[in-house]
Amino acid sequence: MREKSLDLDHKTILVTGAAGFIGSNLCLRLLKRTEGARIIGVDNMNMFNPIELKEWRLNYIGEIAQRCSSEWMFREGDISDKEFLDWVMQRFRPAVVVNLAAQEGVGYSIENPYVYMNSNMVGFLNVLEGCRNYPVEHLVFATSASADTEVVQKAFPEEEYGDHPVSFYAASKRSNELMAHSYARLYGIPVTGLRLYTVYGPFGRTDMAYFAFADRLYRGETLSLYNHGETAGILPTLMM
Ligand SMILES: NC(=O)c1ccc[n+]([C@@H]2O[C@H](COP(=O)([O-])OP(=O)(O)OC[C@H]3O[C@@H](n4cnc5c(N)ncnc54)[C@H](O)[C@@H]3O)[C@@H](O)[C@H]2O)c1
Repeated sequence: MREKSLDLDHKTILVTGAAGFIGSNLCLRLLKRTEGARIIGVDNMNMFNPIELKEWRLNYIGEIAQRCSSEWMFREGDISDKEFLDWVMQRFRPAVVVNLAAQEGVGYSIENPYVYMNSNMVGFLNVLEGCRNYPVEHLVFATSASADTEVVQKAFPEEEYGDHPVSFYAASKRSNELMAHSYARLYGIPVTGLRLYTVYGPFGRTDMAYFAFADRLYRGETLSLYNHGETAGILPTLMM
């Protein structure tokens, strides 16, 4: 693994999915740890997780930003809207782009594949095109453990994962890795993909197991294990 550190002070950093769990925590961290930077948050504010939670996160970032030397801006919009993303890239010319915007959830992708096609694939292509047309120092994007053959091999047969994804969500994330690879090779864009596992922390997502489990335990209810408690069956739902 190559190590590279970027000085982010006085840089413009675009974070997509900024109202989301990881995006909001990243924006807070960037605000607190940079000097004179400009953090641009973008999010389509979809209703997959409670909108109140997203608004709360954005308000909190706004409050913290008032005490920081770095600047915070938010623009509501969809990364699958090429015109919108072009405008953001042209207007702000970010040095670093962090793409965290994506449609989440394994189960949801069974009923709603087009949402994943639009947000995760068309949206990501727009991000790549933006970085090609308005060159950046670095593009970082979130992929998923579900795209990682080695990890899942420990618990599952290889043929079910990696390049044989069993969910359309995993397929969209694996596609992002391949798309990024080709853009990095073709246009020399410095890209890092992060294969995230189950992430937890403050302001977390209400659809994830740790939240749902804690919520049910708090209310004195029992936990539901999918697939009659066979853990091999529930792992894909945890790996978002
Ligand atoms: N949380 C985890 O455990 C985990 C694990 C693996 C990968 N990831 C990846 O990390 C990234 C962030 O995850 P998160 O947990 O913060 O999810 P999240 O749902 O909290 O945040 C994603 C945000 O993106 C926004 N969004 C979705 N589609 C969009 C679009 N087309 N245009 C603009 N905004 C859009 C949503 O409104 C949401 O606020 C995602 O790419 C996800 O696939 C997360």
